[in-house]
Amino acid sequence: MPTITIDDLRANKTRDKFYILIHGKVYDATKFLDEHPGGDEVILAEAGQDATEAFEDVGHSDEARALLDGMFVGDFEQGSDTKIKSGAAEAQAKRVAGAVEQGSNLMYFVPLALLGAYFGWRFYSAGSL
Ligand code: HEM
Repeated sequence: MPTITIDDLRANKTRDKFYILIHGKVYDATKFLDEHPGGDEVILAEAGQDATEAFEDVGHSDEARALLDGMFVGDFEQGSDTKIKSGAAEAQAKRVAGAVEQGSNLMYFVPLALLGAYFGWRFYSAGSL
């Protein structure tokens, strides 16, 4: 079983020959690009980098995972934990995560603040009757 280096991965990122890295394993998805139910663009966008996160974020089915076996080329040289995302992609991912977190905090805070204000108002207006 060959070990795929980062250079191998980056050398195969065109429609004519496309490798994709998921969970520390490299797959040849060239023939699959046209058949992918999610379209070829989303896969092509992961060219030359670790696509594990993108693949998992979609919540692919067991059938989708089983398809990977048929495309297996070899293990990636550095295992699955290697962060080989480009700096820009990494920064972008962090920004998105931060924005989502901030958004969900606000979702709790705004209704709670309104509720608090309402009871505060009732308390004070009842006291003045
Ligand atoms: C070679 C790797 C991949 C295989 C074998 C694969 C396979 C599949 C399969 C079989 C489906 C149909 C739904 C399901 O069974 O889960 C699907 C849907 C989808 N895939 Fe992939 N996929 C791969 C990589 C990716 C990547 C890297 C992305 C990047 C974001 C992606 C995005 C999507 C999306 C968005 C859908 C949903 C399409 C829809 O429901 O309209 N896939 N994929």
